Amino acid sequence: MKLIILGAPGAGKGTQAQLIADKYGIPHIATGDILRDAIQSGKMLGATARSFMERGKLVPDEIVIELTLRRLSQDDCKNGFILDGFPRTLRQAKEFTERHEIDMVIDIHVDESVLISRVTGRRSCPHCREVYHVKINPPRKEGICDRCGFDLILRDDDTEAILTNRLRVFHEETEPLIEYYSERNLIQEIDGDRDIQAIQASIDDTISHLVKK
Ligand code: AP5
Ligand code: MG
Ligand code: ZN
Repeated sequence: MKLIILGAPGAGKGTQAQLIADKYGIPHIATGDILRDAIQSGKMLGATARSFMERGKLVPDEIVIELTLRRLSQDDCKNGFILDGFPRTLRQAKEFTERHEIDMVIDIHVDESVLISRVTGRRSCPHCREVYHVKINPPRKEGICDRCGFDLILRDDDTEAILTNRLRVFHEETEPLIEYYSERNLIQEIDGDRDIQAIQASIDDTISHLVKK
């Protein structure tokens, strides 16, 4: 099962991708998380990535394409994967298409008015990357990750001002991918303006037939 999950910042890509990954035993590959890991571990690449991410801009294509293709060449991706946050530009999509076939692109659609409270209420684990929401999806113990026990943080780019930039970039650079994948009959649109379990059930309905392939 080879999937891509598309959607605006805060649409719920990471939340749903992790649920799919857990259920079907495929790796959840989130380029945002890979880049945040590079920043945290003090790599050169991390310093470059940070200068773009902290302004809500996209990290240059050549860096992200190389990182993602390298990750996909690892053994655990042989039987499938779910890509979250990649591709994000037409160039990324085209270079990816040259090397990998995919089964489906899940496009999670959420009204823009909902995104601000989702993003500013999100708390993220800097260790295992699990995401929570202070109101809708809180951890069992306030401020502590259920999975690994680390202190949760607010991501540097999860402010209203930076979200505005991220949304503009999404409309300009990433939305054209919906047409790109529609032309290839790969898009499956999902209404993301419902609770997490209802969205998960809809996604599950649309992907379960892929398992037997
Ligand atoms: P990235 O980390 O991918 O961020 P993003 O696309 O802005 O998306 P988010 O992670 O903010 O949202 P999400 O859709 O995953 O939502 P989540 O499930 O957490 O990228 C960050 C940056 O890295 C980019 O700006 C760019 O600089 C760089 N980058 C990454 N990939 C790149 C690429 N390919 N090319 C170039 N640059 C790249 O949910 C959000 C919140 O809502 C959570 O609190 C969650 O608990 C809650 N929630 C989830 N679902 C629901 C629901 N149904 N109802 C209510 N609340 C919900
Ligand atoms: Mg995410
Ligand atoms: Zn954790």
